[in-house]
Amino acid sequence: MNAIQLHARASKDFESKLAATQEVLRRAAHEFSPVTQASSLGAEDVVITHLINSLGLDIPVFVLDTGMLHEETLALLERTRASSRAPVNVYRPVQESVIHFVASEGKDAMYRSIELRKGCCHIRKVEPLERALAGKKAWITGLRREQSAARAEVPLLDASAERVKFNPLADWTWGDVWHYIRLNGVDYNPLHDKFYPSIGCAPCTRAIALGEDFRAGRWWWEDESAKECGLHVKSEDAARESGDEEDNEQKGEEISA
Ligand code: ADX
Ligand code: SF4
Repeated sequence: MNAIQLHARASKDFESKLAATQEVLRRAAHEFSPVTQASSLGAEDVVITHLINSLGLDIPVFVLDTGMLHEETLALLERTRASSRAPVNVYRPVQESVIHFVASEGKDAMYRSIELRKGCCHIRKVEPLERALAGKKAWITGLRREQSAARAEVPLLDASAERVKFNPLADWTWGDVWHYIRLNGVDYNPLHDKFYPSIGCAPCTRAIALGEDFRAGRWWWEDESAKECGLHVKSEDAARESGDEEDNEQKGEEISA
């Protein structure tokens, strides 16, 4: 059985969720330009790119190629670059930083401590993300509430940080994602057929067993609470860091979707 056969199952209100998602994407393109989609080439992200292309929206896509992606992901990246109407830009880490980190901490540093793992994520993901987002008013991600407890309150439009973040699939189920993929014949990462629901870097992603959590295969040697790489700091943390909670709350109300 492949991932489509295993998972495609539309929620009762799939049509209205899809309409809301399309509206959010149109709004992002028209009111928040320049905006860009962050794609890991996972199932959620290929759905969003497909929607951007089918709606003919002016939203470029970017992929952070950490230098540690699976060959299946890199092959999908090439196919997407060839077929997407929207430009697909690739951001890579600063080579000197990678060479220095690997030389001083070793290739498998991420397994030794959370600090080293986050150090690797910083060089390979967070710093390139900053470059990818420079000059952008907003960005679009594939975060869904169902993915983890930490993501249970992800909004469709998150205005709690300086840069607006759209999560157009926030209320989609895993079944909805695969229903869309089946309905539209969307190309997807074959690792999903091998029980990888959530796909990141090769050393830090494994297949999951029946009954395991969606993100159980990511940084599986760490505690649940540590399992974010820094791409998605929770909005209340961002607000606390900026010391501007009230202001941010209000901003969220003013422009929430
Ligand atoms: S992570 O923080 O644990 O790595 P996850 O893999 O769940 O994130 O992906 C959540 C969202 O972050 C994706 O839908 C996508 O928008 C963005 N994202 C994650 N990895 C990448 C990547 N390599 N390149 C671009 N965007 C990414
Ligand atoms: Fe490094 Fe793993 Fe983070 Fe990828 S997910 S950047 S390999 S620690």
